[in-house]
Amino acid sequence: MITGTTRLYAIIGDPIAHVRTPMVFNDYFAERNIDAICVPIHIGRDDLPRGWAGLRSMVNLDGFIVTAPHKAESAQLSDRLEGDGMHTKVVNTVRREPDGSFSSTLLDGRGFVRGLINQGQEVKGKRFYVAGAGGAGTALAYALAGSGVAALTIHNRTRAKAERLVADVGKAFPGCDVKVGTANAAGYDVAVNATSLGLKPDDGHSFELASVDPTALVAEVVMKPDMTPLLIAAEKRGHKIHFGIHMLNSQLELMMQFLGVSKPKP
Ligand SMILES: NC(=O)c1ccc[n+]([C@@H]2O[C@H](COP(=O)([O-])OP(=O)(O)OC[C@H]3O[C@@H](n4cnc5c(N)ncnc54)[C@H](OP(=O)(O)O)[C@@H]3O)[C@@H](O)[C@H]2O)c1
Repeated sequence: MITGTTRLYAIIGDPIAHVRTPMVFNDYFAERNIDAICVPIHIGRDDLPRGWAGLRSMVNLDGFIVTAPHKAESAQLSDRLEGDGMHTKVVNTVRREPDGSFSSTLLDGRGFVRGLINQGQEVKGKRFYVAGAGGAGTALAYALAGSGVAALTIHNRTRAKAERLVADVGKAFPGCDVKVGTANAAGYDVAVNATSLGLKPDDGHSFELASVDPTALVAEVVMKPDMTPLLIAAEKRGHKIHFGIHMLNSQLELMMQFLGVSKPKP
């Protein structure tokens, strides 16, 4: 029952009809008797400052999720950046503070790390190879470097982007052994596809699967389909595999923690 005391959460994006966050958040609230709801808010791509001003004016709005194309501009509109958002200047979760201001962070990469741990995989002390230096690759790079990996190698089709990312991650985490790689992924515990390759059945691979150590885990960020061409081929070669959807599913608890409404299921 929505009453006068119900707290509001939202997801903003353009388009918005495809998002799953309202269902997932509202189930979470209902299962825990939290007096809150989450609604989708469609804010046009050229109208974000006005959209944010509207959100600021809603006193009973305690936070919101940000999806494409608003993640980078929302970082600029935030009063404060925390965690990976501070490094990437891209955010997906925004929390209202008691003084009315908004603090934001990016949980994509942390979701990937949590997803691995939830599936029984170690992250700390492991050697990671990541193909991709776009939004997903960048989020993974900071989250992995911040999780105590033994080594992190980033390969990207456009090498200059990987070089920039490696330099930035190295500055943010001076203790992390981070370097630019090639398509050869030999010598790692985990090899990750963090490019957009894999959405279509005839997509190629972002790295040389044949070079991957036989005991290495092969992981995806691409969520649909579950079994991408890379994971199909990796499984055939006897590798353990890890689905892209784990990264998204594992973000729910992280979002609730950041928003300050995390609660165990009764
Ligand atoms: N599971 C999750 O929670 C989650 C979260 C975020 C994103 N994702 C998924 O991650 C994927 C990438 O998203 P993004 O935001 O990182 O996209 P993006 O910022 O546009 O970056 C795309 C990346 O893919 C590379 N790439 C594209 N086409 C390629 C090709 N033909 N050969 C080699 N590399 C190619 C790009 O390399 P260049 O730099 O050379 O162009 C770049 O590294 C999408 O499928 C997205 O749905 C999943």
